[in-house]
Amino acid sequence: MYSTQIIGVGHYVPETIITNTELEKYMDTSDSWITERTGIKERRFFTEGKDTTAKMGVKAANMAIQRAGIDKMDIDFIIFATLSPDYYFPGSGVLLQREMGLRHIGALDIRTQCSGFIYGLSVADQFIKTGMYKTILLVGSETQSNFIELSNRGRSMAVIFGDGAGAVVLQRSEQPNQGILSTHLHADGSYAEELMCQHPGTQRKQRITPDMLNDGSLLPYMNGNMVFKHAVVNFEAVIREALEANQLQPDNIDLLIPHQANLRISQYIQKQFGLPDEKVFNNIQKYGNTTAASIPIALSEAWEQGLIGRGKLVCMAAFGSGFTWGSALVRF
Ligand code: UT7
Repeated sequence: MYSTQIIGVGHYVPETIITNTELEKYMDTSDSWITERTGIKERRFFTEGKDTTAKMGVKAANMAIQRAGIDKMDIDFIIFATLSPDYYFPGSGVLLQREMGLRHIGALDIRTQCSGFIYGLSVADQFIKTGMYKTILLVGSETQSNFIELSNRGRSMAVIFGDGAGAVVLQRSEQPNQGILSTHLHADGSYAEELMCQHPGTQRKQRITPDMLNDGSLLPYMNGNMVFKHAVVNFEAVIREALEANQLQPDNIDLLIPHQANLRISQYIQKQFGLPDEKVFNNIQKYGNTTAASIPIALSEAWEQGLIGRGKLVCMAAFGSGFTWGSALVRF
């Protein structure tokens, strides 16, 4: 069986920086509260008319392709992870395919929110390992700022989420014990309503009503405390699962890239595994929580900083809405 290598990483973030201090103008919050509870100092908001979920994905993808040193026409398949697609349907994968002028290859959208990148990595790995495809483009991209509300009512979501995109090029390799060593995916739908955007959905005959515009039910909802408690338990468990599956120990990890949900969650996991600061990558301070884009943006920045050179063991893990969670161990 083949193995799957990550041969190129890229990212793009919109130019508009929104600091915590800026948010103080719109809601009862403070830079110190947001910094202490989440670690976030600023996030990026998209520019209307310039950035869309698909277009940001294209920019990240072009960077990943250029760094991989491949011709974009070599790509056999597209996987696009997002909870904030350009349209209700079709998915953003086909828009990226059109915008990039790629061949008429398949384009699959993944809807597992914060775990979207890990799920996408796993799907890509299965396609490549079995020989179905040789080169896959995996993108995570989010435009979340246009469905959060800068008000007291929207505060719990508004302080956390941001926009951006990341991408990786995955390619078949014949070298054993390299590339994606394993992926581990989980879900528990009994908590579906704890982090959700209910409307517009298909439960009512009329998908959007004037009431929904007024009562705030078009806004996403998060039971932050509950999500936090499940996140810390499941992040740890799914990382242990990955290590055990590969008979590895925590100190074999060269770099842990947790989904950037909350700096306190990352610090808790770091402590559970006894990892030093330099082995845990965090950039939530600059971008907030960019959901499916957070891990590939972090991967790309870690690569730029020389942290994921050849032979390094990188562990990625995510938890979020669904609940869904997962991990991946990759030997670069
Ligand atoms: O990526 C998807 C997964 N998502 C996550 O992993 C998020 C997980 N959850 C969290 O990160 C945290 O629960 C939050 C950062 C969302 C909230 O932090 P918390 O420590 O759970 O705050 P809380 O909701 O329990 O609120 C504590 C206090 C309350 O005041 P009182 O009742 O103690 O006086 C809130 O009213 O903080 C207040 N508060 C705020 N104050 C200023 C809540 N949100 C804010 C705010 N600014 N933005």
